[in-house]
This record gives sequence, C-alpha cells and structure tokens, in this order.
Amino acid sequence: MVDDLASDLVGRVFVAAPLPPDVRFALAERIAEMPIPGKVGPVENWHVTLRFLDVIDQVTYERFLSGLERIGGQFSFPIALDGFGAFPNPRKATVFWAGIGRGAADISLLNELAEEAALSAGLVPEERPFHPHLTLARIRPPVDVRDLVDEDLELGWRCDRVVVYRSHLGRGPARYEPLDSVNLIG
Ligand code: 2AM
Repeated sequence: MVDDLASDLVGRVFVAAPLPPDVRFALAERIAEMPIPGKVGPVENWHVTLRFLDVIDQVTYERFLSGLERIGGQFSFPIALDGFGAFPNPRKATVFWAGIGRGAADISLLNELAEEAALSAGLVPEERPFHPHLTLARIRPPVDVRDLVDEDLELGWRCDRVVVYRSHLGRGPARYEPLDSVNLIG
C-alpha cells in the first residue's frame, strides 16, 4: 500500500451526498427481503456519488476544496429514492442501485459544480454521463435483475451537505473516511 504520509498523496477521493442514519436504516429494512445478487455494500457506505476524483495529491485536493465552496452557496433540497435500477441494464446487471426521483435535478447541479471544482483543480473532465444513483450491490458475473427493478421504493430526506471521502481499499469492503464537508444553505 502507498504510504500516504511519506508522499504528498491524499489517496482515492470522491465527493458524495450522504444519507441520514434513519434513511440508511429504512433502506436496509426495505431491501432485507429482496434477493439482491452479488455483494451488497455495507449500510454505512451508502451514498450518492457526485464526482469520483481517484488518487490525487495534496495540492490538487486543496484546489478542489476551494472550488467546492460554490456548493456552499446552494440551498438544501428534498431528495427521494424512487425505485431500483441496474448498470449497464437490468438484464445483465453488474451494479444494482436505488434511483433518485425528487431532487435529481438538484443532485445533477451539485455534480456540475463538483465537476467544475475538479477541472479548476487541474483534473481531466469526466467523460461518462452523470446518472444520479445510490449503489447497493456490485455483481460479477452479470445477473438478470428485471424482477428486482420492478419493486417499489419511496424514501426521502433533505440533502443539506456534501462530504468528501477518502476510500481505503483492501480485503473486504472499502472503508470510506470523511475528510471534509460542505453545508448547503438552510
Ligand atoms: P458509485 O458506487 O456511486 O457508482 C467510491 O469508490 C465511489 O466512487 C463509488 O461508490 C463509485 O460510485 C465511484 N467510483 C469508483 N470508481 C469509479 C470510477 N472509476 N469512475 C467513476 N466513479 C467511480
């Protein structure tokens, strides 16, 4: 493993909208009886990714954080998970996720601001289109989950902050360490 203290690397960084504990609990209860294939990530890891930065150094990180300040000028907003879906498609799913209904446009705006912050920090643009989602499980090899994506889901909360995490990979599930956060207004 890279010794982050010996170099000026911050590590593998991403910024995301976290879920309040009661929503995590309710979502865990909701999916408990669903036969979700693959590996369901730990409840404490669930988040809505806004921008994945990969491994970055300290200078890039500080620039990114400065760029993120614009997010602090946005108002908090209601957000809701409104169903399930899969990448690349439900017939051959490798990622099973909960989708964002209400608040999707606001989340996309936060993604755009995070993208601008990443560009202002000197990172290359994200080429893949942004699709707001909350990853629940990673599936290898792909599985047909068409029955699962038909299930209902309705869980809301107020998105009032974003968190910058460092992802620690190793054996077993990743551990996400909060590094910084930006509060939205209100
Ligand atoms: P996702 O699970 O919401 O799709 C932390 O690793 C988060 O960053 C993951 O939850 C994942 O988001 C996202 N991520 C990881 N690797 C990525 C990559 N190569 N490109 C884009 N996003 C990635």
